Amino acid sequence: MLSIVVCVSGGGTNLQAIIDGIHSGAIRDTRIAGVISNNAGAYALVRAEENALPAFCISPKSFEDRAAFNRAFMDKLSELSPDLIVLAGFLVILPPEMTKVYAGRIINIHPSLIPSFCGKGFYGLRVHEEALKRGVKITGATVHIVDEGTDTGTILYQKAVEVLPGDTPEILQKRVMEQAEWIILPKAIDEIAQQCGNTAVLQKGCGS
Ligand code: GAR
Repeated sequence: MLSIVVCVSGGGTNLQAIIDGIHSGAIRDTRIAGVISNNAGAYALVRAEENALPAFCISPKSFEDRAAFNRAFMDKLSELSPDLIVLAGFLVILPPEMTKVYAGRIINIHPSLIPSFCGKGFYGLRVHEEALKRGVKITGATVHIVDEGTDTGTILYQKAVEVLPGDTPEILQKRVMEQAEWIILPKAIDEIAQQCGNTAVLQKGCGS
């Protein structure tokens, strides 16, 4: 059984796709050990509670400095002891030691076809605003392993989505979520759960 922690900041529709995937059997052999949000007002926390998942808010605002936040965040992860950490719209700079301690065991969903529209400052709606400004005809989403860079880790899955005339950033964001994110993130988790223990993706064996 793959034990995952899902980190969120906002609406939590990707968290919902994971919960639904586990219920429907699209994601096999996986349990959510906890949901961590940096934002007390995140609707993702409501989704976690509605599904009886252990939910925690660890906000940088509640700590005297970044180092104290980083420590609290790392302590919570260590307590939950996940095989895999899923960044599902987690819009916070990770504690620097996190990518070392959990090397190869953190994945992220990004709302573009990396290497387009990614890196520092490209998150959420901004990504779609920039894609529309540039006039691309195809965009999409990417699931990748998280390393010490921003959106630079190994790509696991990508799915293309058409940009249509009249798209606004909001309309495009919704299409990218529906046609790409909510499909490839559950698929990546299922794939990792099925390969548990014998893949380079997971450097630590899964719990039994
Ligand atoms: C999603 O579109 C996700 O791809 C994006 O934030 C949104 C969160 O939505 N993540 C990034 O931009 C990371 N760089 P959600 O809270 O409804 O899942």
